[in-house]
Amino acid sequence: MKISKNQMFKGGKNWLVLLIAIFLYSGFAFVSAQEGEALFKARCATCHQAHKDGTGPKLFEVRQKWENGGAKEGSLNQWVRNWQVAAANDPYAQQVANWAPTAMSLFPDLSDDQINSIFDYVDAQPLPGAGGAADVAQVGGAGTTQETQSLGWIWYILATIFIVIILSVGGVRRQLRKVAGEADDQLTYSEEVRQWAWTNKRYVGVGVLVVTLSVIVSLFLVLYEIGVYADYQPSQPIHFPHDIHAGKNGIDCKYCHNSVEKSKSAGIPTVNVCMNCHKQIQGNDDHQIEEISHIYAAAGFIPDGGGQYTGEQDNIVWNKVHVLPDHVFFSHAQHVAVGGVDCKQCHGDMTKQHELPRVVPVEELNEIDGNIKLTRPTLTMGWCIECHGEKEISNGPMTNQGAYYDEIHKRLLENDKSLYESYLKDNKVTVKELGGWECAKCHY
Ligand code: HEC
Ligand code: HEC
Ligand code: HEC
Ligand code: HEC
Ligand code: HEC
Ligand code: HEC
Repeated sequence: MKISKNQMFKGGKNWLVLLIAIFLYSGFAFVSAQEGEALFKARCATCHQAHKDGTGPKLFEVRQKWENGGAKEGSLNQWVRNWQVAAANDPYAQQVANWAPTAMSLFPDLSDDQINSIFDYVDAQPLPGAGGAADVAQVGGAGTTQETQSLGWIWYILATIFIVIILSVGGVRRQLRKVAGEADDQLTYSEEVRQWAWTNKRYVGVGVLVVTLSVIVSLFLVLYEIGVYADYQPSQPIHFPHDIHAGKNGIDCKYCHNSVEKSKSAGIPTVNVCMNCHKQIQGNDDHQIEEISHIYAAAGFIPDGGGQYTGEQDNIVWNKVHVLPDHVFFSHAQHVAVGGVDCKQCHGDMTKQHELPRVVPVEELNEIDGNIKLTRPTLTMGWCIECHGEKEISNGPMTNQGAYYDEIHKRLLENDKSLYESYLKDNKVTVKELGGWECAKCHY
């Protein structure tokens, strides 16, 4: 029983083809899952969750739901692209449209593959454990993290399979060769592996190349995911121009975002705030009249003949632009009122923004005068952390203006003199030195 070199090669080649196939396939699965997650978070998560009704209904296994409900084929994807068209063509979709008074946004740019990747991602979300309403959000947050980690596992599992295959191939061959009386018993296992690698260097080379490429591709994907917020600019029900309001007409940000100094969230103005001015300002040209008519529709206002309210109010559903995951805590009051950070630092110069608001990429933020220069993509953890490491809580120890910072410096000094002095080595106390790098400050 002798195995020729040729037969061995053949075996090696099959394994190689199989391995390449596994890597490519898992690469695609990985990309698709990543795309679904990124799309869901960017486009749908403001209104939908997997397992809980919110502004929109829960989306877990919605494909089955539509199928069981007797929806027409293709009608679900049509719904996601443009629910009005779907509702007009399919009685089932018409029924769904009555779920809530608020309307879903339109996503005409999404392909069937993209929509399926979103549903695949949603269906893969684990069911949160039973618990009080308060910790549902918590569980949801943990679920997202778990999902990200489980994608990482694919690579560990594959790597393990890879190693096991290589070892067992080596082992089997060694056994066979022993039986065939070919093996040189003096050689250790590792020497033999090296010898085998040398004789098959072309195949080993290709294998190494495949593995290296996969690592590069997956690194790239991870980086891609981190930057996924930058430039995000969802559509809005009304084209509200910030430059005309906050720039040309000099309206203070706080007039509309009135909780920005007092609470966690900045707040989005209700339609009544718009009506304070737009009851009178009805628009000068067709474009303005058209856009402002959406305000009237929501306020239930008929401008003709002196103006009159019908009493039927509806909220304008603005799509949230800056969205942090549920497990992150961020407070505007802490940054704007206490830290004295300008809106421009994080949102760009909104007094010049004519287009809809978007997540301004960090490169553009860096071009604005007075902004601290950062390198990590806007809204990522690296971005928050980097600023906390750079930004001082005051302009140096002796030049404090605010009583608040005097108090902090005094307490630090009393607490631990040497620690305080080490903080001041670079002549500044940064947010980090006050605990701004502690996980629990930002994570629930
Ligand atoms: C502005 C909020 C909003 C956004 C954003 C949004 N939806 Fe919806 N969605 C709704 C509402 C509200 C409904 C319920 C139907 C109605 O009342 O008009 C709905 C219904 C649905 C349904 C039908 C659910 C069922 O139980 O039959 C699907 C599927 C759906 N949305 C998918 C998506 C997807 C996918 C995205 C992201 C690409 C998305 N939605 C983004 C608000 C939204
Ligand atoms: C007249 C009211 C008004 C004023 C004044 C105003 N905004 Fe807004 N702002 C809005 C409305 C309405 C939205 C939601 C619509 C949208 O996103 O297009 C919004 C959205 C935003 C967003 C995006 C929010 C998100 O969803 O993440 C940011 C950031 C923002 N404003 C910052 C500012 C800053 C900074 C100023 C002052 C320079 C300012 N705004 C002044 C009404 C106003
Ligand atoms: C340190 C960075 C930072 C500064 C400074 C900042 N914001 Fe924000 N802003 C954010 C982040 C992060 C979010 C997303 C918050 C979330 O999803 O919980 C956000 C969200 C918003 C929103 C959407 C609604 C909300 O509260 O989630 C508005 C409006 C807004 N900011 C307005 C402002 C205005 C006006 C100022 C200045 C007075 C300002 N922001 C200063 C980081 C900042
Ligand atoms: C403090 C007064 C004030 C408030 C509050 C206000 N606006 Fe305006 N708005 C104006 C003025 C002034 C103009 C500019 C008219 C002009 O000179 O062309 C304007 C213009 C507009 C236009 C037309 C812009 C264009 O494209 O030319 C839209 C749309 C609009 N506002 C929407 C809103 C919405 C939505 C809200 C509520 C979130 C709002 N406004 C709140 C004063 C206000
Ligand atoms: C432009 C710089 C900057 C960016 C970007 C920034 N922060 Fe901050 N942050 C500050 C400053 C300054 C303070 C300190 C305020 C003070 O004096 O207490 C602070 C304080 C905090 C605190 C309170 C820390 C404590 O010790 O109590 C939390 C929590 C926080 N930031 C979360 C975030 C999160 C989450 C992000 C990213 C989404 C973020 N920050 C982005 C500058 C920044
Ligand atoms: C200054 C605020 C801040 C601090 C401090 C901080 N984080 Fe984060 N973290 C964030 C933000 C913001 C995100 C969301 C980033 C995103 O979605 O890209 C995040 C996301 C995460 C995620 C999830 C990644 C994902 O893909 O959703 C993990 C895990 C995490 N942080 C762990 C930690 C640990 C561990 C620490 C302490 C060593 C820590 N964080 C400290 C702000 C912070």
